[in-house]
Order: sequence, then structure tokens, then C-alpha cells
Amino acid sequence: MIAHALDSKPVTKPATMCHLNRFNPALKKGAQVKFSKAAGDYNTHAHVQKKAADDLFKLIKPSACNKNKVCVDLGAGPLVNTHQLKSLYGNVLSMDLSFNMLNSCNKGDYKVCADMDNLPLQSNSVDIIFSNFAVQWSANFNMLLKSLYEVLKPGGQAFISTVVEGSLNEIKTAFAAVDSHSHINTFNSVDYINQSVQSSGFNVTNTISMIYTDKYSTPLQAIRSIKAIGATTQNTGKTRPGLLTKSALKTACAAYPLINQKACVSYHVVLLSLTKA
Ligand SMILES: C[S@@+](CC[C@H](N)C(=O)[O-])C[C@H]1O[C@@H](n2cnc3c(N)ncnc32)[C@H](O)[C@@H]1O
Repeated sequence: MIAHALDSKPVTKPATMCHLNRFNPALKKGAQVKFSKAAGDYNTHAHVQKKAADDLFKLIKPSACNKNKVCVDLGAGPLVNTHQLKSLYGNVLSMDLSFNMLNSCNKGDYKVCADMDNLPLQSNSVDIIFSNFAVQWSANFNMLLKSLYEVLKPGGQAFISTVVEGSLNEIKTAFAAVDSHSHINTFNSVDYINQSVQSSGFNVTNTISMIYTDKYSTPLQAIRSIKAIGATTQNTGKTRPGLLTKSALKTACAAYPLINQKACVSYHVVLLSLTKA
């Protein structure tokens, strides 16, 4: 039933397929490696991601769900949302750039290792796109939204949460004391997200802005937390060359801004509920 949405490539249960991307291969490879390294520990550290997923699920109207619908979980990670999506829709296709993320869980029926910037899906083939905390790693959010619009059937819906500018500012402040290189992803602004939504052709049902914050006892725990979920992955080429030395890490920890003796990690997130006319 799902195979027709996959560019003529058959999916055998529980096979994991790889699809090559057409964007900067080095950056994509880097992202793939970082997320694959994070796969084992992801669930232990992904508190904020779980809160965002809960809020994203609240945007789904149960009356619009049925077992005939095909849902793509884009940037599915270790299939943390698969069980809940399967309770709402008949077929859930989990798609992720990282093979290890998909393979770290044997829950999913259909898994495709593919790049969201080069979707291996046919036009008008999908009823629902669900994507939590993933599309900020798209090389081009504007183009991604257009391709999501294309693959959705008329009346199809997209439920997306994306991390935006302002996120991980504590980490930025801490590492500014080390050097002028970028140590985290560059996030899109809310304005850019809104403009992209406006030009995508989607009808907007909901746009919600949230700030989710994790609190840690020490700056080192805070820094390790973002590494553990793969958030040090970058979508630009302005990466710091080489590994972080112990003394650089010490400098970053000393410069980490504390609130009430806690090291916070804040994520600014936009939640979108969109419908294809
Ligand atoms: C923060 S995790 C989110 C996982 C899950 N959706 C959740 O709610 O916890 C982001 C996921 O996006 C995936 N990802 C990053 N870039 C991607 C791309 N270009 N195409 C597909 N998946 C990608 C990563 O491998 C990772 O599993």
C-alpha cells in the first residue's frame, strides 16, 4: 500500500532504504554521522522533543483521522512517535537521514532512510506529514514546504514543529568565549518560516510559537545534552575545524550563563498545522 509513494522502489518490511541527496554531500554526510552517533542515547536526552511532540499531537483533530490514511513521519528519529501515529492512521512511513536512528527501534512497519531535501515520494500520494523537531536540518525550508505540498493529496495535512532562531542561545554565549566559530546549527527566523508558509500554497490552520527549556545542574551536562541528541549538527559550512579541546570546553563551561544556579538549554519552536487546498 505504501510502496506506490516511493518512486517505484519497493519497501520490504522492515527494510531500511537509502536515498542519495542532491545538496552539499559533505554537510549531509556530517549530519548523518552525528545523528547516527546520537541514536543510542537519544531517548534519554530528548525531553524537550517529547514536549514538542505532545503539543504537535494536540493540533491533530481525532475526527480527521482514519485507518485508510497514509502518514509520513519525517525525520522520525528512533521512531518515538510511531506508536501514537499508528493509533491515528493506517500506515506510517518513518523517514530519516540516519540509518542508525531508524534501526535503533524495531517498532516501525515501513522505514526509509532518505533525505527530506530529496523526498523519494510521488506527487499526491500522502495524506499526512508529521514532523517533530526535524525540518530545521533541511537545507532549504522554503523548498521543503513546496515539496511537502506536492507529495500531499488534496486535503492532506502537515503537522510540523521546527526549531527557530533564538534557540540554544545559552550554548552560543558559552562558546563565544572560546572562538568565533559556529558550534551549533543556524536556525531560521520566525519571519522566514512565516514567509515560506505564505508562499507554499498551504492553508494555515494553526501557527504556535513556544519556548521549551531544559534545566541542568552543570554547564557540562547542558553542553553534553545537545551533543547527545545530535543538535551540534550544522546545516552551514561555518563549522569549527577540529575537535574541541579540554581547555576550550572548560572555557565554555565557565562562560555558560546560569539562571538560579541552573544551566538552561532553550529551544524556540514554531508549531504548524497546514492543509493542502
Ligand atoms: C531531533 S531528532 C527528532 C526525532 C523525532 N522526530 C522526535 O520527535 O523526537 C531529528 C531527526 O531528524 C533527522 N534528520 C536530520 N536531517 C535530516 C534530513 N535531511 N532528512 C531526513 N531526516 C533528517 C535526524 O537524523 C534525526 O533523527
